[in-house]
Amino acid sequence: MSQVISLLQKNLLTWYKHHRRDLPWRNTTDPYAIWVSEVMLQQTRVDTVIAYWHRFLETFPTLADLAKADEQAVLQIWQGLGYYRRAKLMHKAAKQVLSQFDGNLPKTLVELIKLSGFGPYTAGAVASIAFGEKVPCVDGNVIRVLSRIFASHADVTPHAFALAKHRDPSSINQSLMELGALICLPKNPKCSSCPVQMRCQANQQQTIDLYPAPRKKPNVKNVFAAALILHNPQEQTFLLQQRPSSGRWPNMWEFPYFEFEENDMCVEQFLTTKFPKAANFAKKGKVRHQLTHQNIHVDVYFAETFEQSSGPTTQKWIKDVSTLPTSVLAKKIQQTLG
Ligand code: ADE
Ligand code: SF4
Repeated sequence: MSQVISLLQKNLLTWYKHHRRDLPWRNTTDPYAIWVSEVMLQQTRVDTVIAYWHRFLETFPTLADLAKADEQAVLQIWQGLGYYRRAKLMHKAAKQVLSQFDGNLPKTLVELIKLSGFGPYTAGAVASIAFGEKVPCVDGNVIRVLSRIFASHADVTPHAFALAKHRDPSSINQSLMELGALICLPKNPKCSSCPVQMRCQANQQQTIDLYPAPRKKPNVKNVFAAALILHNPQEQTFLLQQRPSSGRWPNMWEFPYFEFEENDMCVEQFLTTKFPKAANFAKKGKVRHQLTHQNIHVDVYFAETFEQSSGPTTQKWIKDVSTLPTSVLAKKIQQTLG
């Protein structure tokens, strides 16, 4: 193995030993618990994940518990984390592991990657951290760190593979992620505290700003929508409806919600036609919600009705909205009630 690689491994591990954060999933050897942490950590900050991780494992202590759980119960625990597809795919993978592998996660990247929701990152993370397989896991932090160390705009995966060939691939991989999270920051990296400063080519060339190669910005479209908080003052209930099982926020509950192509709809008229038995329409405010490809502008209306007909099973009149899994957008809409 090249000397460059073995020196980098040494510097990374010494630094990691002394500076790693004491995160709860670093004190377990349970592959299932490690898997849950890695899925949650995709797109969500560490501070937020900690509480969710504890709650998730209290509710579903083993992979079998998760596999046997109701999807609604899984989504309920996940609510607020966003990217609900991750939760659905994780639930599906748990069922696969229970039926195909007797509830034990397979131990290699090539087996793991066949499961629902497992991409190269998750499969590499679980294989290396839980099972010690000498494979890398390349997330955004690792791409940034390695593209700078090797002053490279090319795919950094070969470098990540070379580094993971070590007796402790778990610590190597986590040291790269940790360096990206604590030192090699996107803006103003703390190079003077960096364990590999002397071996970092971008640092030596003073070209850190060139790495990593900038990503293309996603096209963000404006979406205009209306939500109706329909209240029955007699029963003290609100009308909620369930989203379809595909698309964003699958199966989650929300106030009746409608999207429009343009911002010039006569929204109140539209709602009156949709809910002819409702009265006392009042605009409560505006709510904005940013998704990867959409910037959603919601006009929130309030209205009252005394007719609480039982409609389809995807509609419910409910006293306490918090007893159903709702999206973050639905929570923002609820907050306009004050
Ligand atoms: N991000 C995702 N997984 C991580 C881990 N195991 N350590 C540090 N950061 C991470
Ligand atoms: Fe990142 Fe600076 Fe360390 Fe290079 S020296 S890896 S740019 S923190």
